[in-house]
Amino acid sequence: MPITAPDFPRCDRTAAWAALSGHFQAHGRDLDLREAFSRDPGRAPAFGVEAPEVFADLSKNLWDTATLHFLLDLARECGLEPRRAAMLRGDPVNTTEGRAVLHTALRAPLGAPPLVGGPGLAPFNAEVHAVLDAMLAYAEQVRAEQLQAGAGSPTGITDIVNIGIGGSDLGPQMVVLGLDTYALPGQRLHFVSNVDGHDITRVLKRLDARRTLFIVASKTFTTQETMANARAARDWFVQQGGTDIARHFVATTTNVQAAADFGIRTTFGFWDWVGGRYSLWSAIGLPIAIAIGADNFRALLAGAHAMDRHFASAPPAQNLPLLLGLLDVWYRNFHGFASRSIAPYHQGLARLPAYLQQLEMESNGKSVDLLGRALPFGTSPVVWGEPGTNGQHAYFQMLHQGTDVVPVEFILVKTPAHGLLEMHAMLLANGLAQAQALMQGKTATEARTERAPTAAPGFDLDVLAQHRRFAGNRPSTTLLLDALTPTSLGALIALYEHRVWTSGALWGINSFDQWGVELGKAMASALLPRLHSGDTAGLDASTAALLQRLRS
Ligand code: F6P
Repeated sequence: MPITAPDFPRCDRTAAWAALSGHFQAHGRDLDLREAFSRDPGRAPAFGVEAPEVFADLSKNLWDTATLHFLLDLARECGLEPRRAAMLRGDPVNTTEGRAVLHTALRAPLGAPPLVGGPGLAPFNAEVHAVLDAMLAYAEQVRAEQLQAGAGSPTGITDIVNIGIGGSDLGPQMVVLGLDTYALPGQRLHFVSNVDGHDITRVLKRLDARRTLFIVASKTFTTQETMANARAARDWFVQQGGTDIARHFVATTTNVQAAADFGIRTTFGFWDWVGGRYSLWSAIGLPIAIAIGADNFRALLAGAHAMDRHFASAPPAQNLPLLLGLLDVWYRNFHGFASRSIAPYHQGLARLPAYLQQLEMESNGKSVDLLGRALPFGTSPVVWGEPGTNGQHAYFQMLHQGTDVVPVEFILVKTPAHGLLEMHAMLLANGLAQAQALMQGKTATEARTERAPTAAPGFDLDVLAQHRRFAGNRPSTTLLLDALTPTSLGALIALYEHRVWTSGALWGINSFDQWGVELGKAMASALLPRLHSGDTAGLDASTAALLQRLRS
C-alpha cells in the first residue's frame, strides 16, 4: 500500500517540532561553539560519523546532544523510516507524476538482496543490468577506438560531445571532471548544454567530424535546448561532409522512438522511475563510462550502493544522510539560515556545487506539501560555492564578517592524485583553517593588540579593531574522503541524494517533481514566434518594450 502524506504528520505538526522550538528559544539559538568545545572534550568524537567512504565531522555545527535528540524524535514522528522504505521498495512516492523513485535500483549489483523488505529493486534488476552491460560494452568499444586513434589510426574517435542539459549534463560533467585522472591519455570530452549558440559553436570549431561522437542525452528527448543543439550538431556534421549519422550520433533516453525519428540507431534506454537529476547512474552516465571505463563505472555504482545500504539500515543516530537532512531542517527552519555554501577543497569537484544546485533546489524548492497545502516554513536553501581555495579570495569575506550566517560544507580529500605534496598540504591547511576561523573568530581585543599595517596615520585603533574582529561561532561541516576515486565519489553523490530526500520528506514535499520549470518553458515557446513577427499584442508593457528593442 503506497504511503502518502496523510499517513504521517508534516514536520511542523509534531510534538518534536514544538519541542525543538522551545529548545531553540531556550538554548539553541545561543549555543556557542567555543564554549561547547571547552565544556565537552568528547564533542568532536561524539559528532563524528563514519559512513561508507566518507567521514563527517558534524561537531562544528550549532547543535548539541539535546538538539539531536529532538531532531531524531522529529524523524520518528514524521515517519521517516517507513517513508524511506516506501521509496526504496518502489511505491509511487512521486505522487504528482504517479511514479516510483528508484535510482537506487541503478546501482544495485546483479542479484543484490533488497535494501528493504518487499520486492524493492528486484523486478528491475535484470533489465537494469542488461542495459548497463550493453552501455559499458559500447563505452569500451569507443575507448578502444580512442586508443587506436592515439596510436595513429586515421579514423578513430578522439572527441566525445555530450549534448544535454540539467540532469543530462550536470552529473556526467561533474563526475568526468572529478575523475579525470582515470581518463585515457589524449581523450577529449566536451559538454554542450545551453541553447545559447555560443556554447556549441565554441566546441564545434575545435572538432574534426570524422573523429567525433555526439551523445544526445535527454530523458524526454523533447527538451528545447538539447534538441536545438542536436540539430545544430547534425547540420554541422553534414556540412563537414559527414554521412554516417548512425556511427557518429548515439542517444541516451527513455524516448527511444524520438531518438530513432532523429536518425539515431544506437540508443541506450532507461526508465521513468529515474528522475533527471538522479540519472547519472543510468545510460545518462555514458560519457562517464567512456571517460573512466567499465570497471571504474561499476566502482562508482558500488560506492553509491554502499551508501544506499548505509542509508537504508544504519541506525538514525549514525545515519549520515539522515543526520545531514535533519541538520538542514534545524538550520533552515529554526535558525532561519537561507543558504548553504559548498566548499570542495579539490579542483576536481569544481562542478559539484552546480550539480548540487539542481539536486537540492530542483528537488526541494517547493512551497506546497504533498496535499497541496501552502507551507508555513522555508524549504530549500540556496546552495552555492566554488572550490577552495578560490572561494577564499572571493566571497569568504562575507562568510566570516557578513551580516548573514551561512553554514559551510568543507570537503577535504586526504590523498591527492598528483605528486605536489607540499601544495596538497597547503590546500588541506587552508580548508581546516577556514573551518577553524569561522568557528573561533577573533575578538576586538585580540585585533587591537595586533599590528595594523593598513591603518592610515592617525586612524583610531579601536575603530580599526572593530573592522578586524570576527564574530566567530559560524557553523560548518567537514566531509573527509581518503581519495577521490570512483567508489568514494559514488558514495558522496548518493549521500547528497539521500540527504536531500530526508529534508524533503520532513517538510512533507514531493522532492521528485519539478513543475516550477514549466511556466518559463511554455512562455519561451510562446515568445519565440513573437520575436520573429514582432507581435506584442496582449503582452505586458515591460516584455513588449524589451522585445521591440531586441528586434530593432
Ligand atoms: O527543466 C528541468 C528538467 O526537466 C530537469 O529536471 C532535467 O534534468 C532537464 O530538464 C533535462 O531534461 P531531459 O533529460 O528530459 O532533456
